[in-house]
Amino acid sequence: MTLDQIEWYLKELNTTHSSRLSVTSIGKSIEGRDIWLVHIRPRRCSVGGAVWIEAGIHAREWISPAVVLQMIPLFLEDCSRLETLDIFIVPMANPDGYLYSWTSNRLWRKNRRINSGGCDGVDLNRNWDFKFGLFSSDNPCSEDYRGSAGFSEPETQALKDAMLAVAGTSNLLMVIAFHSYGQYILYPWGWTTEEAPDTQKMIGRGELWATAAKKRYGTVYQVINAGGGLYLASGTTDDWAKGVLQVNYSYTVELRDEGAQGFVLSPDQIKPCSEEVWDGMKILLRAVGPGEHIFL
Ligand code: ARG
Ligand code: ZN
Repeated sequence: MTLDQIEWYLKELNTTHSSRLSVTSIGKSIEGRDIWLVHIRPRRCSVGGAVWIEAGIHAREWISPAVVLQMIPLFLEDCSRLETLDIFIVPMANPDGYLYSWTSNRLWRKNRRINSGGCDGVDLNRNWDFKFGLFSSDNPCSEDYRGSAGFSEPETQALKDAMLAVAGTSNLLMVIAFHSYGQYILYPWGWTTEEAPDTQKMIGRGELWATAAKKRYGTVYQVINAGGGLYLASGTTDDWAKGVLQVNYSYTVELRDEGAQGFVLSPDQIKPCSEEVWDGMKILLRAVGPGEHIFL
């Protein structure tokens, strides 16, 4: 969907499903666009905890918002344990970059901050203020330019303020950020190869996700450590959620494919990818949370 279509769809959901869902702006991008947060409230009053889902922080990874947007009606329909959860979804964390990837440069990754020196953009997934600057670039011309300081960008400020608010008022069980590509379930840390708290739990539940996601089309998602398995990077959403919010489960999911099409994934993959990811999400979300031992 274009950015306009995404916003139209979110407005539509907000009016047609207002009894369980609300769409609010958590702040504005550097070019002044709203960053929307979709909150799906639990169907019953027995609150099972909260889950935070982020998509679209990297502009060119178009499959990320597509897959996450398709989850919204599925969450609304679900009648399992998922309906007891508070689901928070940011389907488009970097609207300026996304628009730019449609209009000017399909492979744009960063936001649209104008830096001095002629190279624009900050990598929003290097801008979080946890271990900021250790493994990221200080060169504005780099794809992983971290920005001038932790949370220098309005997009990451808006995300972290909203996440802090959620964590302060509910039992935030999980943070999961969707990217592409590579077909990985990444767990922290990303800034070091040392083990993060709850690593065995994150691996175990990650494997549940991967096994469920494989059933439908045979797509293999590898559960690996972000720093050791992929590459070291700091100032990322997953590390901040683990290190500062101290959520039990923090993941970055790299969606389809394994590199044949890469960022420019063909549209016919949107539906199968969304289906297998939902298969994984259902199993994962039934297996985490208060009293989670009974759901195994
Ligand atoms: N592709 C993501 C990025 O480069 C991966 C982030 C995963 N986290 C990490 N710390 N490596 O931003
Ligand atoms: Zn990414």
